[in-house]
Amino acid sequence: MNWKMNPGTYTEARMLARATARFQKSFPGVVYVAPPAPFLYPLVRGVRSLNYVAQRVHEEPQGAHTGEVSVSQIRDAGAHGVLIGHAEQRAAGETNEQVTRKVSLATQSGLYAIVCIGESVRDSSGDYLRTVREQITAAVGGIEPRALKQLCVAYEPVWAIGAEKPMGTHDMHEMSLYIRKILSELFGKAARVVPVLYGGAIDAETARNMMLYGDVQGVLVGRASVDPVKVKDLLAALSTL
Ligand code: PGA
Repeated sequence: MNWKMNPGTYTEARMLARATARFQKSFPGVVYVAPPAPFLYPLVRGVRSLNYVAQRVHEEPQGAHTGEVSVSQIRDAGAHGVLIGHAEQRAAGETNEQVTRKVSLATQSGLYAIVCIGESVRDSSGDYLRTVREQITAAVGGIEPRALKQLCVAYEPVWAIGAEKPMGTHDMHEMSLYIRKILSELFGKAARVVPVLYGGAIDAETARNMMLYGDVQGVLVGRASVDPVKVKDLLAALSTL
């Protein structure tokens, strides 16, 4: 549940978190909520039944980096992990090299790294496959095989983020195989522990289809995650799988 820069106040954030926690009760899977940074600590303390991750982290452990947040601050706030490489961060200048350092730092400090990857456009020449390979290779470039259990790959094609419809489940199935192939080329069987998620224009119906036919272990949800009615529908739909 990636809340992005929403909602506007802590009062609303707490209401949304409480609603999410209520709907999560009948859900057998794990829900991670990624609130805006100022809400992270108070939500960890205030709505304890949810699991939280941060939306971003800096690639240095500390220092003169105005406006940034470090892995130790995220851990100390009580988050379990962090999103790294989200398309909106990449669009703001985050590079594959920074992703490598962030994943390495986050996993070393015990955080779970949810690495977002995905091409901007789907060209017919297959260049997008190279983009995906480069992003995955960078994401795991700084970690030991034993840290793979702290890694999760969220495939979010940029053209599906904020769009009306998600990618087709058949295409996601193919992409999931491709992602697993790259990971197993790099780590062999050890890579099997890495879950693959899909993100981009997910709601209750599309989440269910993606889980059934897209060969993914979870979904990353943007807009629908800040609408309590949609959160309820989504978790209800996934609970019956
Ligand atoms: P969306 O965003 O669900 O609003 O398309 C997904 C994301 O950016 O993680």
